[in-house]
Amino acid sequence: MDFTGQTVIITGAASGMGEATARMFAAAGAQVVVVDRNAEGASRVAAEIGAGMPLAGDVSDSAFCDQVVAETLARHGRVDVLVNAAGIILRANALNTTDEGWQRMMNVNVNGVFFMSRAAVAAMKAQGKGAIINFGSIWGDVGAAGVVAYCASKGAVHQITRAMALDHALDGIRINAVCPGEVNTPMLASGRDKAPSAADLQALADTTIPMKRLAQPEEIASVVLFLASDAASYMTGSMVAVDAGYTAR
Ligand SMILES: NC(=O)c1ccc[n+]([C@@H]2O[C@H](COP(=O)([O-])OP(=O)(O)OC[C@H]3O[C@@H](n4cnc5c(N)ncnc54)[C@H](O)[C@@H]3O)[C@@H](O)[C@H]2O)c1
Repeated sequence: MDFTGQTVIITGAASGMGEATARMFAAAGAQVVVVDRNAEGASRVAAEIGAGMPLAGDVSDSAFCDQVVAETLARHGRVDVLVNAAGIILRANALNTTDEGWQRMMNVNVNGVFFMSRAAVAAMKAQGKGAIINFGSIWGDVGAAGVVAYCASKGAVHQITRAMALDHALDGIRINAVCPGEVNTPMLASGRDKAPSAADLQALADTTIPMKRLAQPEEIASVVLFLASDAASYMTGSMVAVDAGYTAR
């Protein structure tokens, strides 16, 4: 796939699937704008892929999201693609979820996707073309124990995707979500008392994933590039499961 001349904003680009997506877009010729609250990681990725100065900040701040789009327009004159990969997880049932924990999940996973998307569609509508790819999850469609706030937040991401796809179907803007299963990124260890061992992860795969292995971040990034490309020109409002059959049952 060739993205030469296209400008791609990627949130959460300092780690995991956002980073893999940034590397793949850069290799495909895109001008990548690296966005992450982790300034050090964002600088590392931006330098390694030859992107311009990264934009460090929190996507739950709508003013920051507006600034990301304004800065991208100032640098490159357009926003062709937005990838909303920034996200966090809280591993807790309802009784162990504090008000602050719940609100933080919604602020980042839901508000962050909405604020970035709202800012981007304004620019894309003026261009008459654009694509947004949100990171949903298998857990936006099916429930899982011990992650209630995360499940709720990803369900909301799926509905933001569907509703905005309908609103902008005639504006030349396609909005889809990629819905990964279990992917081998730092998030797998996030919010646990200790990082899972390789044996723990294989046991998880053996018991829950039909293909009996975790995904590598690049296996999700390649689907993001497809959704951003003209090869997906008839797709909008779709939840694209990339889950080795997890939700096929
Ligand atoms: N890893 C999985 O198994 C899995 C499965 C399904 C969906 N997802 C989703 O995929 C996306 C990417 O996850 P990952 O596994 O690559 O995670 P990751 O933890 O490796 O990377 C997430 C990145 O988002 C950044 N980030 C977090 N909060 C932010 C904020 N408020 N503002 C800006 N940046 C912020 C982090 O600094 C980090 O660089 C997330 O939305 C996640 O919920 C992950």
